[in-house]
Amino acid sequence: MQFSSPAGSLKPSYIREILSAASQPDMISMAGGLPASSLLPVDLIRTSCESLADHRELFQYGASRGYSPLITTLNKLYPEQNNPWLICNGSQQGIDLIARAFVNPGDGVVAEIPAYLGALQAFQLSGAQIYPLYHISEAGEAGSKPDLIQLESHFKTGKVKLFYAVPDFHNPTGKAWSEETRIRVSNLCRHYGVILIEDSPYRELRFSGEQCSSLTPLCPEVCISLKSFSKIGFPGIRLGAMSGPAEFIAIAERIKQATDLHTGLPQQALINALLNHPKYPDHLAHLRNSYRGRHQQLRSELIKQLGNQVQFERVEGGMFIWLKLTKGSGTNVAARALKHKLAVVPGAAFYPEGVIAEDSAIRLNFSNTEPTLIPEAVSRLANSLESSS
Ligand SMILES: Cc1ncc(COP(=O)(O)O)c(C=O)c1O
Repeated sequence: MQFSSPAGSLKPSYIREILSAASQPDMISMAGGLPASSLLPVDLIRTSCESLADHRELFQYGASRGYSPLITTLNKLYPEQNNPWLICNGSQQGIDLIARAFVNPGDGVVAEIPAYLGALQAFQLSGAQIYPLYHISEAGEAGSKPDLIQLESHFKTGKVKLFYAVPDFHNPTGKAWSEETRIRVSNLCRHYGVILIEDSPYRELRFSGEQCSSLTPLCPEVCISLKSFSKIGFPGIRLGAMSGPAEFIAIAERIKQATDLHTGLPQQALINALLNHPKYPDHLAHLRNSYRGRHQQLRSELIKQLGNQVQFERVEGGMFIWLKLTKGSGTNVAARALKHKLAVVPGAAFYPEGVIAEDSAIRLNFSNTEPTLIPEAVSRLANSLESSS
């Protein structure tokens, strides 16, 4: 069959493939970006699930923009957005709509590399050229930050339309931008007229340190912000939302009409019920506490069992540790780990086509592994390292 060039060259997602291996019996999975199954807030929507059938209007066609009670809730919860909303099937659909709205084949999209694979796939499908943005470490400072000199030099080419960013607990590295980085990036995007995409599915999962500004208030005229209810609610419900300048949301709404008419109303009503439940703030606090504990436990086990064979930074939220191997290849370690019944993703999977992949890291998810299994997971990882084969 003659597929279009972008569709024909789209590679299957390593993570989606590894997730099917991860469901084998006795496998411990640190591969996906999944919330803890035991912490899914099912009880907060139980009554709403049971009463869905009493609301026939939720089983009719709905508005492409989204279910208006949910939009009212979003305005209340996220006043800093102060822009219109469009409800999507997960934030992944938001990324796809943005790519379709802005990208002509060959247009430039800057992405922090390594990057979230689903975004790279959506941009690749639209024919974008990815301009990689790397992190740098400055003398005397802990951690690293995006190289803003490199960012500006990309912008100066005049070929970049979008900057795709995950400023809060980046996938896959777990890093968060400082307030200063947010201000400087916003100023650069304004100055060069580049659309800044703030993809923030992990923002509510900060378990230490200070919350920083959302990017929208810093540059409302060029910022599109994506919300997801997969990490704080239920990934299976497939619900996300985006807000941005009215002119953009109107175009995105038209593209959504052409794609799937609208997001399912029962799902929107359930997420609306979750967000309005009096115990929703407690649920978030409990999630943060639990993930703080899981992260701390994983850190301690990594230090205890792997010592100087690995390096990693402390993260302040989200779901991931980016583990750098002092020796050997992440791809080999991930393959050996599968034989030891541990699923992890090699760092090389997070690099776009045409960019040289660094194969000396693996991504570890800590949110989905029950605390009792963490020591065993790290022991399997220790048995998978280069020196132990
Ligand atoms: C950075 C990032 N953006 C978007 C998504 C997609 O989320 P959703 O389930 O809302 O489509 C993910 C999922 O892992 C992610 O890590």
